[in-house]
Amino acid sequence: MNQQEVSTVDVSLGERSYSVVVGRNLFLEVDRYISSRYEKVAVITQAEIPWSLRLSVDSEVFTVPKDERAKSLRVVDEISSKLALFGLKRNHLIVALGGGVVTDLGGFVASTYYRGTDYINVATTLLGMVDAAVGGKTAVNLKQGKNLVGSFWQPKAVFCDLNTLETLPENQRRSGYGEMAKYSFLSPNTLEGLTLLDQVARCIEIKAEYVANDEREGGRRALLNYGHTLGHAVEAQGFERASDEQITHGEAVAVGIYFAGKLAFKMGRIDELRLDEHRKVLHSYGLDHRLPVWVDRDSLLEYMKRDKKSMGTLTFVLDGRDGLEVVRDVEESTVKEVLYEL
Ligand code: GLY
Repeated sequence: MNQQEVSTVDVSLGERSYSVVVGRNLFLEVDRYISSRYEKVAVITQAEIPWSLRLSVDSEVFTVPKDERAKSLRVVDEISSKLALFGLKRNHLIVALGGGVVTDLGGFVASTYYRGTDYINVATTLLGMVDAAVGGKTAVNLKQGKNLVGSFWQPKAVFCDLNTLETLPENQRRSGYGEMAKYSFLSPNTLEGLTLLDQVARCIEIKAEYVANDEREGGRRALLNYGHTLGHAVEAQGFERASDEQITHGEAVAVGIYFAGKLAFKMGRIDELRLDEHRKVLHSYGLDHRLPVWVDRDSLLEYMKRDKKSMGTLTFVLDGRDGLEVVRDVEESTVKEVLYEL
């Protein structure tokens, strides 16, 4: 392997520490990692993912449904039963091969199977690489909301093979860009001019620092949710639309980032120049900062009030003179005003 094509980022969490390897042609490396440590492996993936691993240990592939439908307790039940029939034991390994849906679900299954089994993430989407696969947040959805049942369960390693991005559909690429844009507001160092490998590694480095300092989101890790309060609300409305109108997670986060910028501006926390920077960063990734035409703004407001991080009041991560911070009890009338201006 050409060493220059690989970058390794450590997530420092004491005995739960692990490495995130970013590079190309990493699948052989994945096999080497697994076969030197485990005798039996269950690979959780989706039929639509055009990548598979060749493993030199006893392994079986388990496919889960397409998109967010995979993230359900019914699928957890089905997959766990199949793992038991396969004879997977606590000292064996689960591999989540795919994007955020697969790593969220696979990680959750790993956290409960035998009261906790080792797993690694092999991310095949940009969003997975820069966000979902790293940090140990796992979850499935309930009818009442996204990611309502989950756990903090760290993977043993994460592999991000950039070759897998070559087959990524354009909207999924934009979804990754939405999360990458977020990092411009979490760190003073710009990603501009870096190679894709260095950009991905840099985003992971920033995330790793937040995770290492606040693994269970008691404080600063919440800042990684910049743009997500409105983003989740827009994404949820999108699920109810025809498939050609749906919006990906990262595209919804991009709109959420601009909304948060406008809200901060309206509240006097940032000036017009900084607000304009929000728009420029999003546009540099080819992302739209405007709300999709089909959104129902009143329903967005209701959804944001129910946000699981809000604790009953309208809560946002907002920019300010000292950078991002969590701001509670934002006036409903101000939020509404900004929503209608967007
Ligand atoms: N996606 C945000 C986090 O992992 O904390």
